[in-house]
Amino acid sequence: MAERTPIMAGNWKMHRDHLEAIQLVQKLAYHLEEQDYEGQDVVVCPSFVSLRSIQTLIQSDRLPIQLGAQNCHSEDEGAFTGEVSPPMLKRLDVAYVLAGHSELRALLDETDEIVNAKVAAIRRHGMRPILCVGETKEEREAGQALEVVVSQLRGSLAGIEVTDDDAEEVVIAYEPVWAIGTGLTATPEDAQEMCAAVRTELASLYGQAVADLMRVQYGGSVKAGNVRSLMAQPDIDGALVGGASLSSEDFALIVGHRRAS
Ligand code: 13P
Repeated sequence: MAERTPIMAGNWKMHRDHLEAIQLVQKLAYHLEEQDYEGQDVVVCPSFVSLRSIQTLIQSDRLPIQLGAQNCHSEDEGAFTGEVSPPMLKRLDVAYVLAGHSELRALLDETDEIVNAKVAAIRRHGMRPILCVGETKEEREAGQALEVVVSQLRGSLAGIEVTDDDAEEVVIAYEPVWAIGTGLTATPEDAQEMCAAVRTELASLYGQAVADLMRVQYGGSVKAGNVRSLMAQPDIDGALVGGASLSSEDFALIVGHRRAS
């Protein structure tokens, strides 16, 4: 079985101004131990207005934390008021960009086609997309979870090439919508089943060898108390954490999931 680098990412959503964001990262770095960064990617995704401040902090304090953005436009520039382009993010040393988060799919009617264009733009500019997929409560109850996720993957990855050499650079986050911000977490077995299904679909798109190298995160009410059982699943390679990443102590416990308890 391929060795995949776990990726633990905090998505702060529309929380924390830039001064609070600086404090949060400083405290997170204080709580993390050297071993937490070893063979594992640690990522924070603050709002756009905090990216420059966090970039400067990471640089000046030489923190092994990587910067992520929560969204981007698919065009390099243009008359798109309020939008932020991939080259702008690249200049801020952004390593990861979320694409297709369910909140944007739901609130802004972001389609797979739009998400696909964003994923392509993120790749074109040498950054790593974290492509979010996941079913709603209604879809799960109707037995359509798998079908929805497979269709989101096919649509959002259309024309996106992934090879052995860059398989770790395209990350999938399986985030069931009903588990986001609700305190309801998929059971480790259910999360595993869906993440395994994601990998099966990746194998049909890119071949088994590439799929075995690609990272699949779980997201949806991940907490210090459930992260270990989720990370113990063979097809879960990381967590995309919302609410719990707003506390430096809690997020450090999640990132430090491999420490002896
Ligand atoms: P919560 O961890 O708050 O459920 O959020 C998950 C999420 O949407 C991360 O992108």
